[in-house]
Amino acid sequence: MSIDNTVATDREHAVTAEVLASFDKTPDPRLRDVMGSLVRHLHAFARDIRLTPPEWEAAIEFLTRAGHITDDRRQEFILLSDVLGLSMLTVAINEAAAPGATESTVFGPFFVDDAPEIPLGGDIARGAPGCACYVSGRVRSVGGEPIVGARIEVWEADADGFYDVQYADGRSAGRGWLRSGADGGYRFWSVLPAPYPIPHDGPVGDLLTATARGPMRPAHLHFMVTAPDFRPLITHIFLADDPYLDCDAVFGVKENLVVEAVHHTDTPAPDGSHPQGGWTSITFDLVLAQADGH
Ligand code: BEZ
Ligand code: FE
Repeated sequence: MSIDNTVATDREHAVTAEVLASFDKTPDPRLRDVMGSLVRHLHAFARDIRLTPPEWEAAIEFLTRAGHITDDRRQEFILLSDVLGLSMLTVAINEAAAPGATESTVFGPFFVDDAPEIPLGGDIARGAPGCACYVSGRVRSVGGEPIVGARIEVWEADADGFYDVQYADGRSAGRGWLRSGADGGYRFWSVLPAPYPIPHDGPVGDLLTATARGPMRPAHLHFMVTAPDFRPLITHIFLADDPYLDCDAVFGVKENLVVEAVHHTDTPAPDGSHPQGGWTSITFDLVLAQADGH
């Protein structure tokens, strides 16, 4: 290394040291650790790629656009975290191993906390277009005991690939919550999920285009399951044979969350109904880990 380079490198490290020292008196020890690590890694990243002023400006411009497009219906920063794999890395870091329990996956930006309650066997589609799909299974512990009265939140995109909150008309469809029954069983009607693109008309979409990546997510149904004494479960079920299983834009697919949907034409549904145009069914047990880790 030449003398000039040594001087430049010393100067770079002096900046990092000065910034690190500025956080030394942070009263909250966790915040002190977080800021210290952030500064060390951020500065190492800038040194690694030899960040130029135009690139720094482009990054600021990108984040500014992400801020401007974000509102209570659109969260560009969550999307950014998702496409960078940070959301799934956070899931992996925080999902303590619980062999036999259903695995977690990304939460996504389309949950709403005031979805309607649906009776067991009811319809969460509530007008969402798509092929009728009967979803059923059991909520149980890793040891196989039924979990009675678990709260099951479900949400999904319609056959056109849109969540209700993506429509401007304020509709509520393709979502609801129910409780598991006396035997831990659950069942509801929905529509067969379809693959869809994550919102890609903003800076995150531009990033995907610039890096030759696609915006598609494989078809899935979201679940959030909670029950006293058990760890909350946030997950999806994915449909086998989906063309996007291997290239989910947000890295959410896990092999044991993939299920086969069965197509029925002539047979009546389990509740005796005959949905027009046939129906499909999915069976999936939701297995919760005990809060103490078992
Ligand atoms: C979703 O599955 O709803 C989702 C997840 C991450 C980004 C966009 C959508
Ligand atoms: Fe989704």
